[in-house]
Amino acid sequence: MAVIGIESSAHTLGVGIADKGKVLANEKMMYDVGTTGIIPAKAAEQHIENIGSVIGAALSKAGMDKSGITGIGYTKGPGLGPCLRVGQLAAKTLSMELKVPIVPVNHAIGHIEVARHVSGAKDPIVLYVSGGNSQILGIINEPFRHYHVFGETFDIGVGNMLDSFARAAKLNPAWGSSVAKLAEGGKYIQMPYTVKGMDFTFTGLLTNAVKMLEANDPRDVAYSMQETAFAMLCEAIERAMLLTKKREVLLSGGVAQSKRLKEMLEIMTATHNGAVYAAPNEFNADNGAMIAIVAEKMLDTGMQKKPEDCDINQKYRADAAEIRW
Ligand code: FE2
Repeated sequence: MAVIGIESSAHTLGVGIADKGKVLANEKMMYDVGTTGIIPAKAAEQHIENIGSVIGAALSKAGMDKSGITGIGYTKGPGLGPCLRVGQLAAKTLSMELKVPIVPVNHAIGHIEVARHVSGAKDPIVLYVSGGNSQILGIINEPFRHYHVFGETFDIGVGNMLDSFARAAKLNPAWGSSVAKLAEGGKYIQMPYTVKGMDFTFTGLLTNAVKMLEANDPRDVAYSMQETAFAMLCEAIERAMLLTKKREVLLSGGVAQSKRLKEMLEIMTATHNGAVYAAPNEFNADNGAMIAIVAEKMLDTGMQKKPEDCDINQKYRADAAEIRW
């Protein structure tokens, strides 16, 4: 089986190919968010212009042509409508042309399951941290096998907070990685810290940090905001670990690329005889391979849809997706 996965939920257009759990290709093209953040219609336009060449690049990386494709997966959501449409239409077209099965994939489950697959975690409590969302999840079997959300952000994703701060601080590129670089050598200033049980919020912290840029060393502000946000996540997931008695903490999503977050989680989990699992960064940023890996698992367990029933859902939650494997 060679399953192709198309990811186009936001700024990244990714195409991956997986065969029996092995990633054969993981090609991508990114929309430049510049200083304005993502403009959905413009990102979608760029995805449309490049979908053919990114699929071609993935096929040539995998050393095959279209005729070798035996299944197709695409991101159903969550994400930006115009961007999701591009992957959906490309996937449906390929499915009808090649007469191979197609399955819609939840974007968050793509991030989580590729990280579980690659890292070897068995039954983890998951910290899924991205621009669009931040959640704590773990698999439960009732009323169907799925990732239950134990806690989540009440407002924005921690990645959104980092990127918004990066733009306010005029960092280039305006990503969390630039904030991490700026934070090096910074000193701690107290900032708003909001955890409610296993839920958390980031807008108050962001507003405060942006305001503090006016009268403080940007390195201190970046360091303090990052430390505060990550400490909030550590507190919430520690509570979830103790509640569920799970000892594997799986870090996934775009912000899983943060070395500091992983380090803080390792300090916390060590006190509970736990361990942190994560995938290489290639699989933490948005990518097509995560969709291909999950689509293959779904197709293997009989989950597929008729092309005409393949829709998108901008607010498709991780806890609504069935995990049969
Ligand atoms: Fe993502």
